[in-house]
Amino acid sequence: MSMSAQTPNALHAIETASRDEIESLQLSRLKSSLSNAYKNVAHYRESFNAAGVTPDDLKILNDLSKFPFLTKNDLRAQYPFGMFAVPRSKVARVHASSGTTGQPTVVGYTATDLSNWADLVARSIHAGGGSPGDLVHVAYGYGLFTGGLGAHYGVERLGATVIPMSGGQTEKQVQLITDFKPYIIMVTPSYMLALAEEFARQGLDAKDCSLRLGIFGAEPWSGEMRSQIEAIMGIDAVDIYGLSEVMGPGVASECVETKDGPTVWEDHFLPEIIDPDTGVVLPDGEEGELVFTSLTKEALPVIRYRTRDRTALLPPTSRSMRRLARIKGRTDDLLIIRGVNLFPSLIEEILLKLPGIAPHYQIIVDRDGVLDTVQINVERSAGARSTDEELSQAVVKIIKDIAGVSVRAKIMLPGRLERSAGKATRVIDRRK
Ligand code: DLL
Repeated sequence: MSMSAQTPNALHAIETASRDEIESLQLSRLKSSLSNAYKNVAHYRESFNAAGVTPDDLKILNDLSKFPFLTKNDLRAQYPFGMFAVPRSKVARVHASSGTTGQPTVVGYTATDLSNWADLVARSIHAGGGSPGDLVHVAYGYGLFTGGLGAHYGVERLGATVIPMSGGQTEKQVQLITDFKPYIIMVTPSYMLALAEEFARQGLDAKDCSLRLGIFGAEPWSGEMRSQIEAIMGIDAVDIYGLSEVMGPGVASECVETKDGPTVWEDHFLPEIIDPDTGVVLPDGEEGELVFTSLTKEALPVIRYRTRDRTALLPPTSRSMRRLARIKGRTDDLLIIRGVNLFPSLIEEILLKLPGIAPHYQIIVDRDGVLDTVQINVERSAGARSTDEELSQAVVKIIKDIAGVSVRAKIMLPGRLERSAGKATRVIDRRK
């Protein structure tokens, strides 16, 4: 099978290859990746030795479960460049995760890594329905965050035209979309909503703009949010997944014809789902923590990286590779409210079912004595007919019914909650 770069407008042969072909490619690449890690990164040498394994112990794909996990803390401990498997001079670019607490995590790419990344983002855009020659507005942030530059080089690799707008300057974003007439936008779903509001503020109907496809990711978003964005913008909305430690955007991406969850680009990344408490590998279909092993990365091979994202692996549909179920959020986003487990993404799904409620919300968790309290701040939609009191009762009831948690609800006027130009902050946990 040819491993050459994707030709414009065609699928790469591996995207539709047989499972056998995919798995045999994975096995040979996995062996190289393990030996790159073991030979060139002290952390892996030590952790493999401590677990009593060497790369030679991997004979079949399932042998990977003998190898130790890599965690965010392991990466932090090697700050800044300790995880690199190549000399710093061979690293063509670094990115870093924002890291709300403690040290940021630094990641590096060789020129080959960057080229593979561009190929995979090009493949992702193509899966979403983009083609060479399309005009693509990139409103993911440029800089240390992988979103902007990751998307950017993928657009160029596809042979499309990139508008490197980055995040922020909301008014100008809308002006450029109106004037340049892009076909595709790449942005976080929450910032897409802020842009939609700006269209309205300028007296424009967002549906009339040139955009027909949105490639959204970098934060959890629900199926309800997809429907609302598609309706407000008059576009197809697809889901792109990734994380800086593993590469950036384009680790997995959704096919527009099925919209059934991001396909993992399994020729470059081997996914596993584990029980987050025991570390045991779970069968496909079961929900747990997503773990990735990179198969081709040179500068920063990740072996069994615990993403902390909760999802399940689903069988292939429009490609031969497995898909991710919608990401529920990170295991550390899980709120435990008076003993009940609650993912913020469930609240989103529930809220957006209610007529009169706008897709802008925030969850405030606090403690009153020994009791956890949850307040949902959510905006009424501009055309809502119900009173605040009625909306608030409806929110409290539906969350109690579906999620089993008693909350207070505060209904706010449209536009009251702060909009973010990148990843939205959905939860404020004052207990911490
Ligand atoms: O957010 C990379 C990215 C940029 C992906 C642009 C997609 C589009 P990080 O800043 O390292 O990298 O954050 C990665 O964001 O572990 C998930 O928790 C979350 N995330 C990313 N994509 C999705 C998605 C980028 N499609 C973390 N759905 C990941 C749900 C997502 N969560």
